[in-house]
Amino acid sequence: MSVDPNRIIIFDTTLRDGEQSAGAAMTVAEKLRVALLLEDMQVDVIEAGFPISSAGDFEAVSQIAAQIKQTTVCALSRAVAKDIERAGEAVRGAVRPRIHTFIGTSPLHRKHITNMDQAQMLETIRSSVTLARSLCDDVEWSAMDATRTEREFLARAVETAIAAGATTVNIPDTVGYAIPDEFGALITYLRAQVPNMDRAVLSVHCQNDLGLATANSLAAVQAGARQVECTINGIGERAGNTSLEEVVMALKVRREHFHDHYCNVNTILLTKASRLVAAVSGMAVQSNKAIVGANAFAHESGIHQDGMLKNLQTFEIMRPEDVGLQQSRLVLGKLSGRHAFVDKLAALGYQLPDAQLEEAFQRFKALADKKKQVFDDDLIALIDDEIAQANHRLKFVSLTVACGSFGPQRAEMVVEVDGRTQHHIATGNGPVDAVFNAIRAVQPHEAKLLLYQVHAVTEGTDAQAEVSVRLEHEGRVFTGQSADVDTIVASARAYITALNKLLYTSERTVAAVA
Ligand code: KIV
Repeated sequence: MSVDPNRIIIFDTTLRDGEQSAGAAMTVAEKLRVALLLEDMQVDVIEAGFPISSAGDFEAVSQIAAQIKQTTVCALSRAVAKDIERAGEAVRGAVRPRIHTFIGTSPLHRKHITNMDQAQMLETIRSSVTLARSLCDDVEWSAMDATRTEREFLARAVETAIAAGATTVNIPDTVGYAIPDEFGALITYLRAQVPNMDRAVLSVHCQNDLGLATANSLAAVQAGARQVECTINGIGERAGNTSLEEVVMALKVRREHFHDHYCNVNTILLTKASRLVAAVSGMAVQSNKAIVGANAFAHESGIHQDGMLKNLQTFEIMRPEDVGLQQSRLVLGKLSGRHAFVDKLAALGYQLPDAQLEEAFQRFKALADKKKQVFDDDLIALIDDEIAQANHRLKFVSLTVACGSFGPQRAEMVVEVDGRTQHHIATGNGPVDAVFNAIRAVQPHEAKLLLYQVHAVTEGTDAQAEVSVRLEHEGRVFTGQSADVDTIVASARAYITALNKLLYTSERTVAAVA
């Protein structure tokens, strides 16, 4: 794919590995929004899902394949014929399709998972890559648990995959075990020992169990890897994955250190992507997260502030504008009309269909009535919330709560279920408990509440509260988020969003991945 040997291919797996984070399940519509933004950012490859895992994943990959025009759309599969065929079917409509097939190569995986000796494994690699290649010209092969695989065997496995037609070979540090100099040395070893290595792109995929995923990926780039797999906000299995924004900004800020290697990602969209992924995955970004955390560009100490006033470079290695971060500006007030509202949304990169626009405008008016100053961040939270709730089976209509020092607190909820208005009153130990009980009465379900979390979108007592709710049902976790100046209303909406995801997934899941 890459003709320029200095160009690093950015492979985003937010929608596949990222979605494997506990609680990060996304709907098809949410995945499509993320994919379209990744394409705008000029990411090179979007791993859109694991089509054999569920009907929902298949549908998400197919829809993304049909709508994305520039970026390669990739589907994951095990080294099993039915997986590979399903992946091929899901990306068939893509302008640039890729099938990604993997197998665990380490002694532990060979013994406990695939039950194969080395010869059997090499044969499986050959046949699975050959099958994938018969369905698609662009095939990636991954050696799962590569960093705990015998080096000589890994080299033979990589050589076999390339000989069978793999155009990219990926070396995952699946359990986040590697240390940067060691991982770099592994990449150097493979480049020297695999005779046909020049016929494929060498890629890396690092998990963050020891907090080293970005460092390992960059060490691999220095050793000659030319594709980095990563996710927005670093979400992913367990401690997560290499964070896309960290790799992209390291390459940009320290380009000379990486001997002029660069990537094509438009960094101005990093903050927007981070917020979108946090909203749809329900995984809030920690304040001190590099590049996209709320404090990433905040200077608190007097010495730092003094230096910054004299020269920004004293304490800043990149500018907030480079990652698309603007001061939270005062935008619109209660007298602002629809035209100004639509213009503002366009400036923030949103285009809503008419019905949703009307609903969003009414919510903005209500917000501007309650809140003196409406900032960009308020609008972004409101619109993300509005988009998240479109096409849901359950829709929040209204809520009245009686609370105070004399309990029990009481909630009167009106919710639309499949277009029919339902009304319920419930009591509870506190207003939030009462509201959740009322929702449970409207839509009975067995899910357990795992997390209820509130934080303020901006400053001041009239700030919107952003609420995250995480539900667990039959081992799967569903997260909803919502923002409102009324914390209890935001709580109700967040619970309803999580419940909608649960209902959506229950309807669509047909087979769990072994
Ligand atoms: O961590 C891993 O090994 C993976 C592969 C499928 C690339 O996610």
